[in-house]
Amino acid sequence: MTTASASPLTAPAAEPIPGLPADFRWGVATSSYQIEGATAEDGRTPSIWDTFCRVPGAVVGGENGDTACDHYHRMPQDVELIASLGVDTYRFSLAWPRIQPGGRGTGNPRGIAFYDRLVDELLEHGITPWVTLYHWDLPQELEDAGGWPARDTALRFADYAEIAHEALGDRVRHWTTLNEPWCSAVLGYEQGVHAPGRRDVGDAMRAVHHLLLGHGLAAQRLRAARHAPEELGITLNLGTATPASDSEADRAAARRADGMGTRLYLDPLVHGRYPQDVLEDLSARGAALPVEDGDLEVISTPLDVLGVNFYSGHVFSGTTEDGSPTGEDGLPVTRVVPRGRPRTAMDWEIVPECLTELLVRLERDYGLPMVITENGAAFDDTVAGDGAVHDADRTAYLADHIRAVAAARAAGADVRGYFAWSLMDNFEWAYGYAKRFGLVHVDYATQRRTVKDSGLWYRDTIRLTRQAAEG
Ligand code: FCB
Repeated sequence: MTTASASPLTAPAAEPIPGLPADFRWGVATSSYQIEGATAEDGRTPSIWDTFCRVPGAVVGGENGDTACDHYHRMPQDVELIASLGVDTYRFSLAWPRIQPGGRGTGNPRGIAFYDRLVDELLEHGITPWVTLYHWDLPQELEDAGGWPARDTALRFADYAEIAHEALGDRVRHWTTLNEPWCSAVLGYEQGVHAPGRRDVGDAMRAVHHLLLGHGLAAQRLRAARHAPEELGITLNLGTATPASDSEADRAAARRADGMGTRLYLDPLVHGRYPQDVLEDLSARGAALPVEDGDLEVISTPLDVLGVNFYSGHVFSGTTEDGSPTGEDGLPVTRVVPRGRPRTAMDWEIVPECLTELLVRLERDYGLPMVITENGAAFDDTVAGDGAVHDADRTAYLADHIRAVAAARAAGADVRGYFAWSLMDNFEWAYGYAKRFGLVHVDYATQRRTVKDSGLWYRDTIRLTRQAAEG
């Protein structure tokens, strides 16, 4: 594998990025299970990730989020750190099993108190809190009752959303319902590589529909509540799907990939219908979406903003390596073809121009204001003899992608903000602590935080870009 860190990169010096306005939102992002630790404190009950981490072989090194970055106990210092980066927004998620242990019933005051303090601390530092309600830590009790493939989980999610919003909505004005429902459904219920580790395409598609239904029900509750959000949205992981050639098979493969990755979510959310070609592809695999009357109206409750998580874009072929158009199961092939570009430590190809292409396409097909709620890269960082982390590869990645956002804006895409993933190194799901995405390095043995060169570059870039835009 070619990683960009293998090449002798020098970090670009910070300079203003043209085309980003003075009110452009700059942030850093994290999620609860990846940083908090304290999994058994103050009434929190286990989530599906606590359970999944105990399955032998599920997570690299058998690691788990019991301690993670110990953010639960170091929150005030971490807010100082966020402020030191000069960002105006912090995107974080709430742990459902802290707010509503077990996923049913009333709110847990001790769990809520942590987020109360976090929100107040952020506001005191002039940082806007941007809350995600669900970043994958489903209460285990709800998985035991059927998980996302069960319709009741969507109803439970709406109740939880209302409890969280009731507690924080007077101060938190920016709400994201779900983070990356594709990952919850497909990685969790079809591929089995994320919690809860099931492998059933039918379950996965039931999960897709109930995640979207839960999103819509929660959106309705928040809209109707006191302190209705200023900005309400959902975050999707999106990329580009390019056919490897002009052949019919390759074009069909790209269509299928785009259908399963992008249109299956955005068409119902924005246009109130599932894409017909995707429903047909699914029925060939014996799977269907359990739609009931009225669901699509709920799912298409209007949104103020679309959160876009972007890491890479892919080229697809419709044939196997030896040229067959079908796989062993007799279904059409959708195969990723490498471009031969440098890769991150996740083995993800670095293709910033695909971010521009994606944003312009989203503007054209869906027309929602957008914020990049995650973008960033893992590299094999080391702390140098001088105590610093000279992560030129990450700085280059960020610089190229922020410029790609500016290029999309110049081409008419309404992109209003950029949040780097992640504030600090953290628990990278099935990869455990092996993959480092942070702007801040974490030494897990001591919990010492060190701002990496990329973090300093980000801070300077934000300042210079704002100054230039303010003229
Ligand atoms: C996204 C997740 C986030 C993090 C990054 C690398 O899919 O939302 O939690 O793991 O990938």
